Amino acid sequence: MEKKNLDWGSLGFEYTVTDYRYISDYKDGKWGEGQLIEDPNVTMSECAGVLHYSQTVFEGCKAYTTKDGKIVVFRPDMNAQRLQDSAEYIEMPAYPADKFVEAIDEVVKANAAWVPPYGTGASLYIRPVMFATGPVIGVKPADEYQFRIITMPVGPYFKGGAKPLTLMVSPYDRAAPHGTGHIKAGLNYAMSLHAHHDAHSKGFDENMFLDPKERKYVEETGGANFLFVTKDGELVTPKSDSILPSITRRSLVYVAEHVLGMKVTTRKVEVAELKDFAECGLCGTAAVISPVGKIVNGDEEICFPSGMEEMGPVTKKLYDTLTGMQAGEIEAPEGWIHEIC
Ligand SMILES: Cc1ncc(COP(=O)(O)O)c(C=O)c1O
Repeated sequence: MEKKNLDWGSLGFEYTVTDYRYISDYKDGKWGEGQLIEDPNVTMSECAGVLHYSQTVFEGCKAYTTKDGKIVVFRPDMNAQRLQDSAEYIEMPAYPADKFVEAIDEVVKANAAWVPPYGTGASLYIRPVMFATGPVIGVKPADEYQFRIITMPVGPYFKGGAKPLTLMVSPYDRAAPHGTGHIKAGLNYAMSLHAHHDAHSKGFDENMFLDPKERKYVEETGGANFLFVTKDGELVTPKSDSILPSITRRSLVYVAEHVLGMKVTTRKVEVAELKDFAECGLCGTAAVISPVGKIVNGDEEICFPSGMEEMGPVTKKLYDTLTGMQAGEIEAPEGWIHEIC
């Protein structure tokens, strides 16, 4: 198969229309046979539940070309499970996990020409999304849905090296106590847009959101979980019921504990203790880990000893190990690397 003629190394993180998308419609209480289609547009009722009441959930994962030329996806079974958990929470029908993984196989295979070659740092971003297509005017769950997977090539997250980010402790909340912060629903992202715009307009890269009840503990950013490294080299990740359970964070925690032999603790992290950490990073599918150099909380500036030039040494080790596993250079735990072709 001939690859598309793209400058893989200079791609950004943008929507690109690729050749095929996978769709399956839910109607009369069941999911229909899924299929690959070429039309990138969606036609639905002007009264569709997604348009008025935001009944939509999504996922994000990536296909990579490994060192030996195989196309693989990192832990798609975890995305299948999280999509089901998200759907259930806003009264949408679950999409079967086995069918989810088969659908990823089909759509990635069909778009294999768009999967960036090994060594470019680029990947094929896979965006499964499920939304209410059925009409509703009273506030209630719709009767009809579409499950769709779109894919697009995206560039290396860090062009020319990972520069540490500067964060602002946000005056806004991302989630509510006992709300929807733990699911991957579009509504959470709509409400983070203003906070994001505010942080950017003040010159910050990202927001650090605090727990919405006491505003005392660290939650996450609009699109990534936090990792901290103590001065003794222990990995600490914030515990909260209102953050998204990041697949990257759970994988890094496993790698730290079982591959690198580190001590790992998942616990509430107070804003007041940020100054005591040696390293800080953000983790998620997009960049695996983005280093954080500085956090500004009102008049207080917290500068991590790892500095503003490069990733801290422990963060770097975690990053190199997980990206090495994704690229097929380091053996990954059983079941993590799903081979497509
Ligand atoms: C709010 C939020 N937190 C964390 C993450 C990281 O999750 P993952 O590692 O599964 O990509 C994401 C991205 O999906 C996110 O949107």
